[in-house]
Amino acid sequence: MEARAIVVTSGKGGVGKTTTTANVGTALAHLGEKVAVVDVDVGLRNLDVVMGLESRVVFDLIDVIEGRTELKKALVRDKRVEGLYLLPAAQTRDKEALDPERFRAIVRQLLEEEGFDRVLIDSPAGIEKGFKTAAAPAEGALVVVNPEVSSVRDADRIIGMLEAQGIQENYLVINRIRPEMVRRGDMLAVEDVIEILGLKPIGIIPEDEQVLVSTNVGEPLVLRSNSAAGRALLETARRIRGEEVPFPSLEDRKGFWAAIRRIFGGA
Ligand SMILES: Nc1ncnc2c1ncn2[C@@H]1O[C@H](COP(=O)(O)OP(=O)(O)O)[C@@H](O)[C@H]1O
Ligand SMILES: [Mg+2]
Repeated sequence: MEARAIVVTSGKGGVGKTTTTANVGTALAHLGEKVAVVDVDVGLRNLDVVMGLESRVVFDLIDVIEGRTELKKALVRDKRVEGLYLLPAAQTRDKEALDPERFRAIVRQLLEEEGFDRVLIDSPAGIEKGFKTAAAPAEGALVVVNPEVSSVRDADRIIGMLEAQGIQENYLVINRIRPEMVRRGDMLAVEDVIEILGLKPIGIIPEDEQVLVSTNVGEPLVLRSNSAAGRALLETARRIRGEEVPFPSLEDRKGFWAAIRRIFGGA
């Protein structure tokens, strides 16, 4: 992706935005980029918790906006991965302080003055002001979707809103895929999701209980080689960097994975 400021969004909550932001951000840093992951969502499982950095948060985004600290001081450096930084969300204070123009200025400062290669923005659920603020600085988006009707419907609305805001470089991250269910016809197949939404996938992530385990221990999945979702998220980061990574088969050359290969090429 050309976009250096990328919003991770979905419309629907609980589909995997924070998981995607944490892991793709970690993976991009692991691959050599200087990355800031920015939390605009004040949810149950915040980005700082998922990344295992919550004990090191001192200042947050609103502190920066309201001038209580410098941007540099609010950034939490991840000691495990060179080049990875978190800008935390305000847990308590009034979210009204966070308006699109101010947020845009902060992201610009990260990219133009602080030397970041990439800024990943974890957006709140919904299509209200929180979404608009999160998307304001973005040049591209990862639209996270689960293979179910309500998620696809919300993703469709979000894609329309991204386009209305002039954000052009948008890709799908299809999360929580269960091949057996797709085969039985219980889930919307990957190819259906792609066709309905009309965006190309950049990540296809399987259902994997290691996601919850990694959140509980605060260690990003992409740092664990034993996780199928972790591998898929690392591949997503490689595609964002422009590498040609074929979509792998989770179950040897059968079913919809064969269809994915037919549609998008690859071995
Ligand atoms: N691929 C996956 N496999 C299993 N569980 C997942 C997967 N992706 C996300 N989850 C779980 O779903 C829940 C919501 O994920 P989260 O990233 O917080 O979503 P959001 O930020 O969109 O609200 C979390 O409990 C997370 O562990
Ligand atoms: Mg979240």
